[in-house]
Amino acid sequence: MTRKPFIAGNWKMYKNGQQAQDFIRQFIPLVNSWEAHQVGLAVSATVLKEAVSTVATVGSFPLIIGAQNMHWEIEGAFTGEISGSMIKGTGATMVILGHSERRQLFGETDEWVARKLAAALDYGLTPIVCVGETLQDRESGRTFNVLANQLTGCLAGVSDHSLGSIVLAYEPVWAIGTGVTATVEQAQEAHAFIRGRLSRQFSPQAAEAVRILYGGSVKPDNAKSLLDQSDIDGALIGGASLDPVSLAKIVNLA
Ligand code: 13P
Repeated sequence: MTRKPFIAGNWKMYKNGQQAQDFIRQFIPLVNSWEAHQVGLAVSATVLKEAVSTVATVGSFPLIIGAQNMHWEIEGAFTGEISGSMIKGTGATMVILGHSERRQLFGETDEWVARKLAAALDYGLTPIVCVGETLQDRESGRTFNVLANQLTGCLAGVSDHSLGSIVLAYEPVWAIGTGVTATVEQAQEAHAFIRGRLSRQFSPQAAEAVRILYGGSVKPDNAKSLLDQSDIDGALIGGASLDPVSLAKIVNLA
């Protein structure tokens, strides 16, 4: 089974419209091949439209633009939230769901992620669903329990068929923004666990086809060894995705 590598940047709360435009114009020509892998950027909600139109201005490059969160309702009295249909309306086609910063800082639960996921699939957005354990979970030997619970909760209601439209990301919370990366063995072990778990929750074929990205202090100098692992199908990159040169380096070695 060949799974096309997927490299996605998560800009978090960085970059305004002008900075997003400058990044995209610099980044696109630095990528050697657009066929070998998929490349996405999850930008701030306020610059979604500008990012989409900048990509189109540069040429016909399949650089995917996405959001970092969404509400499950189409509209309503939810101050500060954006819906899948609003994301879709900007021309963006991807959305990150259940990032650990959303879970830890904003109280997002697996149940919310499951609702958001159903809505994202309804709108035809490509969801990147994040799971991952905290340092405390890992040190108390609970990593696999936590991952299993997150997978059960977040993917409740997902059919075998729709699993094919979902991308997963394993992001150990202790490796995010800390400069500490999971070792390749730790990352591969967690990815293999996730795929094994999916093959019981869904069909083995669906589990074999799903892409699982690694996230947590991925940089140009550690990306290759992580991406070489058999169950690691790409990366979700925070800090290193803010610089077009470093993101392009990672894409070019994927
Ligand atoms: P860093 O690459 O900055 O550790 O962030 C990872 C992340 O949270 C991507 O979603």
